[in-house]
Amino acid sequence: MVVRRPLIAGNWKMNFDHLRAVAFVQKVAWVLKDAKFSASEVEVSVFPPFTDIRSVQTLIESDGLSFAFGAQDLSQFDDGPHTGDISGEFLKKLNCRYVIIGHSERRQDHHEDDEVVAAKTKAALKHGIVPVICVGETSADLEEFGASAVPVGQLRAAIAGIPGDAEIVVAYEPVWAIGSGQAATPQQAQTVCAALRAVIAEVMSQEVADATRILYGGSVKSGNIASFMREKDVDGALVGGASLDAEEFAKIVQFPKHVIA
Ligand code: PGA
Repeated sequence: MVVRRPLIAGNWKMNFDHLRAVAFVQKVAWVLKDAKFSASEVEVSVFPPFTDIRSVQTLIESDGLSFAFGAQDLSQFDDGPHTGDISGEFLKKLNCRYVIIGHSERRQDHHEDDEVVAAKTKAALKHGIVPVICVGETSADLEEFGASAVPVGQLRAAIAGIPGDAEIVVAYEPVWAIGSGQAATPQQAQTVCAALRAVIAEVMSQEVADATRILYGGSVKSGNIASFMREKDVDGALVGGASLDAEEFAKIVQFPKHVIA
């Protein structure tokens, strides 16, 4: 049986400048050290804005903190006349392990469609960065197509044509649950995550599907994380709002200690 190491990922979105970023990561590290947290049990990654990444990298590497870090987006292009965009090559040079791709806020604010998401997924893999591919339905989609159809279609489009043995992470984030305080139920998350794993098995292989971490995202907090993590196909969480509070984020990371009523 494959054991998937859970991943708790903090998506800071457009919050914290580089000074606050450093103070924040230090605080989370202190809290987790006090709590004798073991990174072998749970992988923790932060996703700061581009302008913070160098500072976060320097802190993590110089203090030997056991956090991974990544970017919130990348360009589908390697270089050239793309004002304002950031190449995967630059992110790799900063040792980013992950990059979030296709977050619903980018699909909405920057009109990123499945084609762009697929190109960005390929760009990340080309530069040796693990893409965290975000998929999820809106409340209108939910009503019209049910929970799984849209995320399944988005994932299918994102991974078409990538190497069959690529390491990817998938984040199921129902758009209606993001920042709303109204999380999906663990059962809803499990149903869609299982459907997403089946797509990976079909398009890539059963082996890759078994090894791939599928996260749930959307109003995750310390009070509900353990109930999601109890589900068979949920391997972690992409946390937005609650990842901006050091104590709360540290509590989420320590979900194996939570007692579920
Ligand atoms: P939320 O955001 O935890 O604030 O709902 C999740 C996300 O957008 O990744």
